[in-house]
Amino acid sequence: MFLTLPTVAALAAILQTTYAAKPYSTWMSDTFITKAIPLPRSYPQAVLYRGIEAVYNVTGDASYFNYLQTPLDAIVDSKGNLGDGYTSSKLSLDDLRVGPTLLYLYRETGDERYKTAASQLRAQLDIQPRTPSGGFWHRKPAYPNQMWLDGIYMAQPFYAEWTGMFDASNEEIWDDIVLQFDLIEQHCRNKTSNLLAHGYDESKVASWADPVTGAAPHVWDRAVGWYAMALVDVLDYLPKEHAGHAKLVGYLDTLADGLKRAQDKSGGWWLVMDEPYPGMKGNYIETSGTAMFAYALLKGGRLGYIDSAKYQKTATKAYDLLRKKYVIENSKGELDWEGTVSVGSLGGNGSYEYYISQVLTQNDLKGVGTFIFLSVEKEAL
Ligand SMILES: *[C@@H]1O[C@H](CO)[C@@H](O)[C@H](O)[C@H]1NC(C)=O
Ligand SMILES: *[C@@H]1O[C@H](CO)[C@@H](O)[C@H](O)[C@H]1NC(C)=O
Ligand SMILES: *[C@@H]1O[C@H](CO)[C@@H](O)[C@H](O)[C@H]1NC(C)=O
Repeated sequence: MFLTLPTVAALAAILQTTYAAKPYSTWMSDTFITKAIPLPRSYPQAVLYRGIEAVYNVTGDASYFNYLQTPLDAIVDSKGNLGDGYTSSKLSLDDLRVGPTLLYLYRETGDERYKTAASQLRAQLDIQPRTPSGGFWHRKPAYPNQMWLDGIYMAQPFYAEWTGMFDASNEEIWDDIVLQFDLIEQHCRNKTSNLLAHGYDESKVASWADPVTGAAPHVWDRAVGWYAMALVDVLDYLPKEHAGHAKLVGYLDTLADGLKRAQDKSGGWWLVMDEPYPGMKGNYIETSGTAMFAYALLKGGRLGYIDSAKYQKTATKAYDLLRKKYVIENSKGELDWEGTVSVGSLGGNGSYEYYISQVLTQNDLKGVGTFIFLSVEKEAL
């Protein structure tokens, strides 16, 4: 028996493999857990926490868990009250997005403070105003009688997880959760493209509201992304025996078809997705929405809600585009995230010009956090 020394070329190849094998999930997480994340804490931070939680789940590395606990301890006091460090306006669905992180910390530590804080968020839903048909307003007082796809992700996965943990036999609550999706489907779904408008105004008084459906005029990629993620995440909790389960699977399946058809040849999705805007001047491939769609398609396929043979390639093509073009290694060996639009709101006139005039921000947590839990899905394939 004899040993041969590896050639320089072989060594380089080994190093290359090791380097390339560094998972993007942990690489992106390691980049962000060392940054001072700007205050006030709100739903973008909550999206990052979700990514870090997913990475802790697969690595078991305590530094990720500590990273979750530290900012949460800064907003939950010794009695479990949620302080001003988190909430913005008192009746915004956006504020509920951190709820799943609180429930996760409660399950992991048994510390009642986290349950108390989560119960304060849950109590908001008892006083959140509703449309005449029972849909939660996106925010009081700013958006009366308006449901936005964004709000479905902010509130419904938390509402469903809470119910699964503490109120699982309450059929009325499960019905209420399904109703939120039904209302969006009835008012926002385009049955030709299978995509959904950004939101709707049940009172039809908003300047942008369609006179018949109340729907906003455009399909904004991140809103649809939030909605797609809400579907796959709520299905984790909604009992399979409940009639709403098959219904939500159907909504996801229909949306997956619309997404596959709307995907750009680059693998990404356009900021404004409805015809004839893809490819139009001012429109661009937007990365938070692209990451959200890839996540929903991979998770939906893994759990058998949609046909993974049909959609996995769509998702991995999107992932490869993000990784190659929008995830940039900087001079510190850390990752920067590009291509995410800062906001898109139905507080304006809802026009194409409005959406394309919003600024892009580097390292936007809504994109970063999603890319992290998307990477966990991708790396598990
Ligand atoms: C992490 O694992 C827990 C326990 O299995 C699970 O409830 C939670 O949804 C997981 N989180 C993510 C982000 O996947
Ligand atoms: C629905 O989508 C089709 C196909 O893209 C489009 O032609 C139509 O204008 C859309 N309808 C509405 C109400 O936006
Ligand atoms: C809508 O708002 C955008 C800016 O957000 C502006 O450029 C556009 O002219 C407005 N359109 C109408 C019809 O008022």
